[in-house]
Amino acid sequence: MTSPDQPTLDNLSSETRRFPPPPEIAEHANVRADAYEQADADRLGFWAEQARRLDWAQPWDDDKVLEWDPPFAKWFGGGKLNVAYNCVDRHVEAGYGDKVAIHWEGEPGDTRSITYAQLQDEVSKAANALIELGVRTGDRVMIYLPMIPEAAIAFLACARLGAPHSVVFGGFSADALRSRIDDVGAKVLITSDGGYRRGKPSALKPNADEAMEGTAIEKVLVVRRTGEEVPMRDGRDVWWHDVVDRQSTEHTPEAFDAEHPLFILYTSGTTAKPKGILHTSGGYLTQTSWTHHAVFDHKPDSDVYWCAADIGWVTGHSYIVYGPLANRATQVMYEGTPDTPHRGRFWELIEKYRVTILYTAPTTIRTFMKWGADIPAEFDLSSLRILGSVGEPINPEAWMWYHEKIGGGRCPIVDTWWQTETGAILISPLPGVTVLKPGSAQRPLPGVGADVVDDAGKPVPNGGGGYLVLTEPWPAMLRTIWGDDERYVDTYWSRFRDQGYYFAGDGAKKDEEGDIWLLGRVDDVMNVSGHRISTTEVESALVSHPTVAEAAVVGATDPTTGQGIVAFVILRGDATDGGEELVVTLRNHVAKEIGPIAKPRQIMVVAELPKTRSGKIMRRLLRDVAENRDLGDVTTLADPTVMNLIGAGLQSGKTED
Ligand code: PRX
Repeated sequence: MTSPDQPTLDNLSSETRRFPPPPEIAEHANVRADAYEQADADRLGFWAEQARRLDWAQPWDDDKVLEWDPPFAKWFGGGKLNVAYNCVDRHVEAGYGDKVAIHWEGEPGDTRSITYAQLQDEVSKAANALIELGVRTGDRVMIYLPMIPEAAIAFLACARLGAPHSVVFGGFSADALRSRIDDVGAKVLITSDGGYRRGKPSALKPNADEAMEGTAIEKVLVVRRTGEEVPMRDGRDVWWHDVVDRQSTEHTPEAFDAEHPLFILYTSGTTAKPKGILHTSGGYLTQTSWTHHAVFDHKPDSDVYWCAADIGWVTGHSYIVYGPLANRATQVMYEGTPDTPHRGRFWELIEKYRVTILYTAPTTIRTFMKWGADIPAEFDLSSLRILGSVGEPINPEAWMWYHEKIGGGRCPIVDTWWQTETGAILISPLPGVTVLKPGSAQRPLPGVGADVVDDAGKPVPNGGGGYLVLTEPWPAMLRTIWGDDERYVDTYWSRFRDQGYYFAGDGAKKDEEGDIWLLGRVDDVMNVSGHRISTTEVESALVSHPTVAEAAVVGATDPTTGQGIVAFVILRGDATDGGEELVVTLRNHVAKEIGPIAKPRQIMVVAELPKTRSGKIMRRLLRDVAENRDLGDVTTLADPTVMNLIGAGLQSGKTED
């Protein structure tokens, strides 16, 4: 707790660059400034209007747009729809059967383009196959697949049957998969022999086999992707090409209640047990569809959209599968890593498919920065018109690099804040409306209530920092934690119970104009001599130095100041390790950018940073490294010992999802 005269979180940096919307985007924008006023005047009416983007088999009851029994929400009560029908069939019925839904690019260079008509056939066949395997409405289906079209088909086949899916990212271990199978109570698993990653086949089925031991899984549907030999257990395992391919392409979708469960996606919590985040149908599809339309200014007849996330993360659920397909998008889906077979792979794909909208993560952008701007410069990126960022705060310098080197200075960047729990983007600029500030997610979208509050739950004034909260329920919100309502209430709704706010767990500040800047997880906030300093601001200050591509900052116990700031930095491709001199320069640079209080006690130059598989920096591990060693006052490390320590921590299982 902070004392009354102390800010909940200090506001240190200030960013003065501004980028108004390009006139051609503003002029044709899907959503204009009046949407904010409209939603403010009648929030539920606004969401009801967006729900009309979908085809409902039965409309919702007018008085049941929202039933709010805090903190349990129901949206669009009385309404019925089929999510897969909305993402596929209705586009075919409207005459768009020949439009490409997915341009899929395998890492080895094999490709498949799938039209909406073909997608309808494939999803129907997969749904029929799941029925044959015993899947019924309400049954949970586990999905453990690489980035191949069958992943999207599997999602939609489940949705078509009203059988909630639970996807586990292909990079996760057998243990992670097993605990999720058990928690969700799945009887059927969809997996593959493997996928391609970094130029090699990477097996999945052996992990799946290990995970299934002792679980309730009865049937396994296996996609052949790599062709590598895998064991198939008689009576349990069947090949996708044997069972799905022979099915009828006819399957009549049934309409389900708006609140019918659509999927359960696990996200890591503070305790070992991951949380199964439950999302339902009508509200989720409404908000993912509308935000994809609004935030990316998506035009189905001319845009080629690419979300470079993995389908196993919520970003893949909401912005590869459900939002874009509901909006009849043509999209690129890529199986592999950005450096295979060469570091220009992303840019090559953008050139090849004339991609107009790119959505990726700051960690990827900083990796590209590290590799150098001469790589994208070799490709024609002139088709791009909108760029998106998600997953972490984007440092202003990474934003500028993305804007200039990828967007050619002409593409608005939408920095989209949301979470697995929120289901859809909640805070983001609108590309045709917002005057952009590099590094800020700016303001809640129309229809969304968000604020920054202090310890007591009072909104901080402009210029102040504190906790990000959501002040109103929203259509795509999580409904609960699967099987654990109490944990749902405790985790998200108890911190600001009196106010009835959802606690997001993120630190944030409001600038002088009330725009929101995300400052990282509140658990990571550092306390230096009583000042509460966000990791994000110090990291951004470091990345604003021309030699630094990436920085991770942690607070390590310090006998004098409580915590001392320890920074780990990766240098840009063209920077050489400047030794002690560079460390001094960087410390002074931080002091100049955001103030002497934020000057790192130590700076270590490293070759890599430990990241979770979704690309978030593992600060817990870095804190251990920073605390376990007496590294002296300043340390420059191309020194392998820090890397060894980081590696040792990783091996000792101190990883998080
Ligand atoms: O800390 C915030 C950060 O990612 C968290 C949510 O992570 P996850 O559930 O894995 O979902 C990631 C994809 C939505 C948030 O609590 N985060 C996400 N987007 C941003 C962000 N932090 C700052 N700016 C963002 N744009």
